[in-house]
Amino acid sequence: MGKLSGKITLIAGGTGTVGEAIVKTFLHEGATVIVPSRSQQAIDRLRGYLADTPVERLTTLVGNIADAEDAARLRDEVLERFQHLDAMVAALGGTWEERLKLIDVPIETWRQYSDSNLTPHYVAARALLPVLVDRAGSTYTLIGGLSAVMPIANYSVVSINSAAQLMMARVLMEELKETQVRINQVMFGVVHTRDRAAYARPEWITADEVGRFCAYLASSEASMISGAVLQFGNRPAT
Ligand SMILES: NC(=O)c1ccc[n+]([C@@H]2O[C@H](COP(=O)([O-])OP(=O)(O)OC[C@H]3O[C@@H](n4cnc5c(N)ncnc54)[C@H](OP(=O)(O)O)[C@@H]3O)[C@@H](O)[C@H]2O)c1
Repeated sequence: MGKLSGKITLIAGGTGTVGEAIVKTFLHEGATVIVPSRSQQAIDRLRGYLADTPVERLTTLVGNIADAEDAARLRDEVLERFQHLDAMVAALGGTWEERLKLIDVPIETWRQYSDSNLTPHYVAARALLPVLVDRAGSTYTLIGGLSAVMPIANYSVVSINSAAQLMMARVLMEELKETQVRINQVMFGVVHTRDRAAYARPEWITADEVGRFCAYLASSEASMISGAVLQFGNRPAT
């Protein structure tokens, strides 16, 4: 019996490099896991990654959790199939390779990163949190980056949207603090994801560690953790 046995969970961003490890841990901990994705290709990649993981409790759905209509459709499908939801993790957004000074960022890039790194969190929360507010023991965990609180040169469009995403999480915590759902924000520096295996540093937190921490937060073992912003930097270098 895992710590999430019997829990119905949805991992938004579960096809991503961080999200896939959360999905794996949740399955190992006994949860039923639902993963929406905009592309069947990303779902196939996730299923390949889970080759050694029991996947009979995994449901994948094609749809866009960042589109209001599609998010409502996905939520309704989840409720129709499983009747309720116990936990959600939002690991939505991505990195920025182009790395320009803010004064050189084209307006299209500015808009694009607001659309990809901030709006998906808002739309997903608006669609799914109402399902959790009256569910005893439910959890909503947002994954964010430490760039929200640490200015990094040439990383503006990620860090500025991370900062807004963090405030969004804090507003949700404040507005819903009298409800049943435990909302927490977990923030990381660089994560050792599997695509970084060739050059990852030992002090980086691993995606599996992120998964284990998210599983703990979603479990009854963490029933005292609510409305928390939890920051994880690198572990001390050895
Ligand atoms: N990687 C790191 O080192 C690191 C460090 C700290 C924090 N984080 C945080 O972890 C989270 C995920 O990062 P990641 O590195 O795993 O990113 P990733 O590999 O690029 O995955 C992004 C995920 O978000 C979904 N997504 C992205 N844009 C979307 C949109 N516009 N509409 C709907 N879904 C969208 C994607 O789903 P589809 O399948 O639909 O494409 C995918 O599952 C982010 O919040 C990031 O701030 C990451």
